[in-house]
Amino acid sequence: MKKTIRTGIVGSGFSATFHFDALTRVHGANVDVVGVYSKDQAGGAAYAQSRGIRAFESLEALLGEVDVIHVCTPPVTHEPISVAGLERDKFVVCEKPLTGYFGDGSPDFHWERADKSAALKAALESVERIMAAEQKSQGRLLYAENWVYAPAVQKEREILEKTGGQILWIHGEEAHSGSHSVDYAYAARCGGGVLIGKGCHPLTAALYLKRVEGHARDGKPIRPHEVSARTHAITRLPNFRDEGHIRSTYYDIDDFSAMHVVFEDGTIADIFASDIVLGGIHNWLEVCANNHRAICNINPNTAMQTYNPVEANFKDVYVVEKIGTKQGWACTSPEEDWFTGYHQEMEAFYRTIAYGEPLESDLLLAADAIATIYSAYVSADRHGAAVAIAACDQSH
Ligand SMILES: NC(=O)c1ccc[n+]([C@@H]2O[C@H](COP(=O)([O-])OP(=O)(O)OC[C@H]3O[C@@H](n4cnc5c(N)ncnc54)[C@H](O)[C@@H]3O)[C@@H](O)[C@H]2O)c1
Repeated sequence: MKKTIRTGIVGSGFSATFHFDALTRVHGANVDVVGVYSKDQAGGAAYAQSRGIRAFESLEALLGEVDVIHVCTPPVTHEPISVAGLERDKFVVCEKPLTGYFGDGSPDFHWERADKSAALKAALESVERIMAAEQKSQGRLLYAENWVYAPAVQKEREILEKTGGQILWIHGEEAHSGSHSVDYAYAARCGGGVLIGKGCHPLTAALYLKRVEGHARDGKPIRPHEVSARTHAITRLPNFRDEGHIRSTYYDIDDFSAMHVVFEDGTIADIFASDIVLGGIHNWLEVCANNHRAICNINPNTAMQTYNPVEANFKDVYVVEKIGTKQGWACTSPEEDWFTGYHQEMEAFYRTIAYGEPLESDLLLAADAIATIYSAYVSADRHGAAVAIAACDQSH
């Protein structure tokens, strides 16, 4: 007998859209999407109407009628909304990044001048508050890091578990030519720049795979120990020559980042994230192990390739995320959300919610990601000096 789970969406923008689409494909449980609450009431009403669900006027009202909420709102709101859900004993599906540091409240806050050690401390305190709320709750936080559920990453999990392989080096990247979101330009709204906004994806996949490796061989995770990082604001350089292909309207954020992570077993990961890469989204992860090598091409990949001689031919055809032109050859994705892991993520989450199946992307993984990211910002402030990762207590 399939269980029915009542669900509410918080936010009515981009991520709320792909969450809803993925929920319609969950097979293991009946997902009854009851309604949406969005700060943008008109946007929430339109979102609700087009999906045949209710628009709620407050988070409290929504929480009163559901078992699960999906936090599809800007990062600065993740902690208060997640804690409110956990305090009402709800399951909380929270978008990335889990939380962070969102400035000192001053109107002239500028990320480049911010005290990065204070940012690290504040971000870890925020994580601790979410962990404390989860501990007291009958609910649980499910961290929506889709890279964990991308089929290529899950296949690598299988390889590690079945072969007992040791990962020696992971390298990976998430990049494109710039986010369109207005909020994204401001660190005070997003917790930093591209290092957190995009870097969190390949970083969390790397942290996840080292956890998998440790569990498979020794019954305990291998965790990040130290990080060195550099960040740059390439599109804000006075000599950046803007030809209109790359977004260049950021206020105070980094648009290029490189993180070198050393794990507690001495093995390493190198993670790149940037907003300066043309040619569509560039999301990949390569695993160099002692007994195999795996290249996970999340997007683009060559599941399908198209050649289009005339741009206008494809005017109504979605090709692939952030592609600049549809003319010529393209790695057209026949099912982008599947390769990206959105569908598998929701299927897995609802199996956890309905039947208590083990959770791959949990609060502990999210906590390690936040600790690594803000330690990386401290390192970048010191021009790449190695910084020990002040990890959150994971004993509970
Ligand atoms: N996993 C992914 O691939 C992926 C992709 C895009 C965005 N995201 C994440 O999703 C989150 C939201 O990003 P987005 O692109 O959907 O943004 P968006 O601007 O498109 O939508 C945000 C929505 O949240 C609403 N909102 C803002 N504050 C609110 C509050 N306090 N209570 C209720 N509603 C509120 C806004 O009105 C808007 O509807 C971010 O954390 C982002 O990092 C993840």
